[in-house]
Amino acid sequence: MSDDIKIPKISQKHLLGIKYLSIDDINKILELAVFFKLKNKEKNKNYPILTGRTIINLFFEPSTRTLISFEIAAKRLGADVINMNIEGSSLRKGETLFDTAQTIGAMNPDLVVIRHSKDNSAEEISNLLDCPVVNAGEGINEHPTQALLDAFTILSHKKTLKDLTVSICGDLEHSRVARSNYYLLTKMGSKVRFVYPKYFEPKDLNKYKVEIFHELIKGISDSDIVMMLRIQNERIIDTELPSTKEYFLHYGLTAEKLKNAKADALVMHPGPINRDVEIESSLADDVNKSVINEQVENGVAVRMACLSMLIN
Ligand code: CP
Repeated sequence: MSDDIKIPKISQKHLLGIKYLSIDDINKILELAVFFKLKNKEKNKNYPILTGRTIINLFFEPSTRTLISFEIAAKRLGADVINMNIEGSSLRKGETLFDTAQTIGAMNPDLVVIRHSKDNSAEEISNLLDCPVVNAGEGINEHPTQALLDAFTILSHKKTLKDLTVSICGDLEHSRVARSNYYLLTKMGSKVRFVYPKYFEPKDLNKYKVEIFHELIKGISDSDIVMMLRIQNERIIDTELPSTKEYFLHYGLTAEKLKNAKADALVMHPGPINRDVEIESSLADDVNKSVINEQVENGVAVRMACLSMLIN
């Protein structure tokens, strides 16, 4: 290939969580993703360094962005990709995760990507397989590639993550995106705020060194980054929520409320968004403020970087 690049190594065999990555690992992934982002702008987007390798995407929870992004990333790198959907698998016949992992392991994949509703399932699978395992979002624990693509997106607009004020707002209790972003941003020197209604207080709050706010306007005041979170209805069991109208009134981000953040603040959301619940629909679509579509675009480049570094 004429535009050959040396694929750097990271300290980890697996990508289970940002908490296990060093600052050096994070910088290497983000730097390599710059190369793939440029490649993805070309007519021929393929960079086939994983030809003959097999990647299995094991998704036990629904996904649009992450699954398609991992599939595109793997295919652009030349790998063979198999997507296993829970509905079509033997888990529906009562097979355990352990037996599914053993079965998949016997087919000698080169990397397995897993999304699961249970915390630590990626680590459990990694103990059963010889190949690298990537956590594509598990329980409320971590979603490391989301935090990496979020950091990449911020760095496309800001010189550094150091000393940025990042307000993470909404359903903090159930958000794996918030946890991975917390680990990444604090490692890189950002100041993180958690902004949430009291009914979404994280049970593990004492783990995090953050400023806490219960009013959205105060929580985003003078922030560089306003990161909104989806209400994770699928994980909410015993919390009585207000109506969506009332939630939007107090915790929905609008263009008017955003005036309290810095003038050049970026609005982010991992998606899928609930329009006019977490964020005003017109603000989500305002490309002068919102980088939501850029986050999705950058996900492919970041995942190409992760896959190539872990397999190579
Ligand atoms: N951000 C994210 O994980 O989206 P999906 O659930 O669509 O993959």
